[in-house]
Amino acid sequence: MALLAIVRLAAAQDAPQALYARALAANCAACHGTDGHPMPGTHLPALAGKSRQLLLQRLHAFRDGSRPATVMQQIAKGYSHAQLAELASYFAAQAK
Ligand code: HEC
Repeated sequence: MALLAIVRLAAAQDAPQALYARALAANCAACHGTDGHPMPGTHLPALAGKSRQLLLQRLHAFRDGSRPATVMQQIAKGYSHAQLAELASYFAAQAK
């Protein structure tokens, strides 16, 4: 029974949707660190555990150019609204 539960858990973690979100989020790791935890001393904002609403609002503001940025405007323009929502959910769900 326990083994079955573990197998089910592994299957759930590797569900296509979860893999998709993780693949999108990997594009952010070079600067924001693995799962949104930046390397100490890099001065890049952490994404892990911030509210989904805040992350999504900032991403939209970068995308439409209303939030000043060095690189994020260009990066956010490379994603659809649905993909930005996926990214915001992913990082909001990570432990701080
Ligand atoms: C090349 C480095 C780089 C990459 C790659 C990158 N970012 Fe950023 N990000 C930044 C910088 C720098 C800032 C600060 C704003 C600016 O100057 O552009 C920032 C700011 C942000 C913010 C605002 C955070 C806050 O608390 O104000 C969010 C949200 C964000 N990035 C999300 C993402 C996501 C999602 C991805 C992947 C799709 C990503 N970033 C990829 C460098 C990067």
